[in-house]
Amino acid sequence: MSFTIVEQAPARLNRSELAVPGSNPKLFEKAAASAVDVVFLDLEDAVAPDEKVQARRNVIAAVNDVDWGNKTLSVRINGLDTHYMYRDVVDLLEQAGDRLDLIMIPKVGTAQDVYALDMLATQIEAAKGRKKRIGFELIIETALGMQNIHEIAAASKRNESLHFGVADYAASTKARTTGIGGPNPSYGVLTDAATDGAPRDYHWGDMWHYAIARMVVAARANGLRPIDGPFGDYSDADGYKAQARRAAVLGCEGKWAIHPSQIGLANEVFSPSEQEVTKAKRILEAMAQAQKDGKGAVSLDGRLIDIASIKQAEVMVKTAEQIAG
Ligand code: GLV
Ligand code: MG
Repeated sequence: MSFTIVEQAPARLNRSELAVPGSNPKLFEKAAASAVDVVFLDLEDAVAPDEKVQARRNVIAAVNDVDWGNKTLSVRINGLDTHYMYRDVVDLLEQAGDRLDLIMIPKVGTAQDVYALDMLATQIEAAKGRKKRIGFELIIETALGMQNIHEIAAASKRNESLHFGVADYAASTKARTTGIGGPNPSYGVLTDAATDGAPRDYHWGDMWHYAIARMVVAARANGLRPIDGPFGDYSDADGYKAQARRAAVLGCEGKWAIHPSQIGLANEVFSPSEQEVTKAKRILEAMAQAQKDGKGAVSLDGRLIDIASIKQAEVMVKTAEQIAG
């Protein structure tokens, strides 16, 4: 281990995160009654400019009045390049009660963006005597944000999670796609011509791999949760699950739901299966025995396991315990 100890953000379940437009209060109670882990009430891109002021009022009232149960509650504020942002933060932190857990900051580009928000939040919390420190969720969704992701992730003690905002990221990097997440038929490889005349194969690739893998590293190196963002085609449950699974395999802890039908899919994919937990427990037992026998590595089911396997298995078992509550 390094002499640098990575401090972990407060532990929260974040398998699913539901986006709810702040301009549509009819959806608030439904979101509160859903099975989602985190709700974010949106003041940013789901809200038209003419509706921004009313949406802000709706959201403050909803934080205070709706029974959110044991869900984590977040509000996505407008970007730092808009004139809505300062009032989003001031009104929210002055008028919304301590039920608010997090603020989601979109299109973060530099560590200074986070620093500025930290300063503002710190002043308002002190002035208003807020008891609970607000945490930050940061959306990485621009080329600038992806370039500076490591400094951004380390920029504030309030940081809890990094989110991959695939739609804005595609726009910012000028990717040739108009979908919100998901694969693209033009991103693939054609196998070489085989000498035996067998037909050539075309394999689709995952055009978001680099971005998600980079985000996972920056998040984990700073004790934050990496969360995969939206998948726009909400009628394609299989497509959603495939995207969620590959994010989970890379280390993401959850994925956004832009439609209630995606909540159950995310919860399912980001909860380790019984089989995986049983296997992890067997690894822990086998390694406990190995250590008693003075061995660093042993074989289990014909495969090598060693001290690193203990840590991997512990991640799995801890996640299962967190879900069980
Ligand atoms: C989310 O905000 C996105 O741009 O994908
Ligand atoms: Mg976005």
